Amino acid sequence: MKQDMIVILDLGSHENTVLARAIRALGVYSEIYPHDITVKELNELPNVKGIIINGGPNNIIDGIEIDVNPDIYNAGIPIIAAGHDKALCEIKLSQFTNDVEHIKNAVKSFVFDTCKAEANWNMTNFVNDQIELIKRQVGDKKVLLALSGGVDSSVVVALLLKAIGDKLVCVHVNHGLMRKGESEAVIEVFKNQLNANLIYVDATDRFLGKLSGIADPEEKRKIIGGEFIRVFEEEARKLDGIDYLGQGTIYPDIVESGTKTAKMVKSHHNVGGLPDDLKFELVEPLRQLFKDEVRACGLELGLPYEMVYRQPFPGPGLGVRCLGAITRDRLEAVRESDAILREEFQIAGLDKKVWQYFTVVPDFKSVGVRDNARSFEWPVIIRAVNTIDAMTATIEPVDWPILMKITDRILKEVKNVNRVCYDMSPKPNATIEWE
Ligand code: XMP
Repeated sequence: MKQDMIVILDLGSHENTVLARAIRALGVYSEIYPHDITVKELNELPNVKGIIINGGPNNIIDGIEIDVNPDIYNAGIPIIAAGHDKALCEIKLSQFTNDVEHIKNAVKSFVFDTCKAEANWNMTNFVNDQIELIKRQVGDKKVLLALSGGVDSSVVVALLLKAIGDKLVCVHVNHGLMRKGESEAVIEVFKNQLNANLIYVDATDRFLGKLSGIADPEEKRKIIGGEFIRVFEEEARKLDGIDYLGQGTIYPDIVESGTKTAKMVKSHHNVGGLPDDLKFELVEPLRQLFKDEVRACGLELGLPYEMVYRQPFPGPGLGVRCLGAITRDRLEAVRESDAILREEFQIAGLDKKVWQYFTVVPDFKSVGVRDNARSFEWPVIIRAVNTIDAMTATIEPVDWPILMKITDRILKEVKNVNRVCYDMSPKPNATIEWE
């Protein structure tokens, strides 16, 4: 890896990733590290040209104000402090929050004039570097990968296919909580079009069996995550000569689990936690990338636009949108209404505008009329939100005629549903998903 790097030290700012992205947008690579990094750790990082100490409101841990390791000031690397008072040579980002140009210029001047960093960070270099690194790491060994069909796992597969071709073995586990047509699309694109070595496992009955009667959201997430690992493990045991596990880990996953000030809201689902006797070495070629960079990487690798710009889909799938204890008929109502929503958003051009949109079916019924008789059926709730980083979100004000058309179709086409609602809640106080 040849690119220059600007290190951001997290001294309790909310804006670390914004800053890192801004620097990368200048064509200079940037990573975020904990405030207490040592000089030795700094020296082990490649091509560090400058350090920005990024202070902010989260700088008190257990009642004590945190600070950087004082030795780093003598590490011989240019340093500035941003966004807090104890600055050496302050940019004071917070002071200029309305003056984006000023911040940009201050950062730019530090990066290029003071640190003399070279703007050599771009996707073509990244892809070529990664292909080289993957080949070097893996040699002629085999890599196993759980392909969900989401953006991250799809881009990793495309990258690994370029680097090692048929030495990549993909496993797609259908947990029965996929969107309509989704597993079929994974098979079509990766197996049929890209010729990937793909094992398809339909584990629907197994997952729905385990989830039967379980209403608590966190328990559901744990069951889905745990079962996913067990199914994947069983497939892995059937295969011979696998040394590596490929993962679609991206930079926010690393930053979020690595900061000292973050609070957990929901447990997220991932392929970790394989048993000890099945320990693989990890191949995580996207671990440096933000989501927009992952998409750019996918396009650079020639993946179709729709796949790369797909809306996010949670690991536990429709399981967290079929509220409470999952039943097959209610799950079907979620899946069918979601398909209608996606179709209508595409027709209206909203699929390119809205960040995430889906339907939710609660585990209670309401009274209605159908064919002149009393009905007692479920409601469907539509949710459509916009966000930059999923930490906060606002709702999309979808036009009434579009909502009315979707409502009409859901009421006509989805079984056991007599009411459609629109979720008006931003995050906070709500979260994007309902569970
Ligand atoms: P919340 O509901 O926490 O969701 O506001 C933020 C974003 O994360 C997605 N999400 C998940 N993604 N595994 C994932 O990979 C999960 O367990 C999970 N839970 C929520 C959610 O769809 C939204 O985009």
